[in-house]
Amino acid sequence: MAAPHADDIPASAWIARFAPLVPAGPVLDLAAGGGRHSLLMRGLGHEVVAVDRDPSALVARAVPGIAAIAEDLETGAVPACLGRRYAAVVVANYLHRPILPAIVGAVAPGGWLLYETFATGNERFGRPSNPDFLLRPGELLEAARGRLRVVAYEDLEVAEPRRAMVQRIAARAD
Ligand SMILES: C[S@@+](CC[C@H](N)C(=O)[O-])C[C@H]1O[C@@H](n2cnc3c(N)ncnc32)[C@H](O)[C@@H]1O
Repeated sequence: MAAPHADDIPASAWIARFAPLVPAGPVLDLAAGGGRHSLLMRGLGHEVVAVDRDPSALVARAVPGIAAIAEDLETGAVPACLGRRYAAVVVANYLHRPILPAIVGAVAPGGWLLYETFATGNERFGRPSNPDFLLRPGELLEAARGRLRVVAYEDLEVAEPRRAMVQRIAARAD
């Protein structure tokens, strides 16, 4: 059986929990993939900028209010999409450590960073196992420190949608 397309995967419960708190304004879904969080945020009335190196699934859907943009986030330069500010920056299941500061910096005053991805220890359960793709203990807290108010943070083993180590943060810019 073919692996489920990202479109078939429900939104992260963490992202969905905090999404209704995001104020009016554009939202960036970074490394958006099939766009499950783009669709979530669009459903809440936000204009969404969905960036991925391969946004073809979202381009094909052609959802009004979702701008699906092709951009490589790992060229070494600060990605163009992070050159402006958003009511929320949403990142799920993606890590490119060098752009963490730019991600935090792209949160507008009053806006939110909603971030969830795999963490150290996940190598016990499978992929990703490369340390480059696993958040170190406290890493999202460190990224937010002095810049965002941390509303919620977890670093733990989860059983759903599959056993994994994840770290996640919901943080607001004052
Ligand atoms: C595991 S998927 C997560 C997709 C989505 N955030 C979600 O949670 O459903 C990781 C995504 O990162 C994207 N990606 C990986 N490397 C990238 C890069 N260098 N630039 C832009 N996107 C990249 C992939 O194309 C893929 O869509």
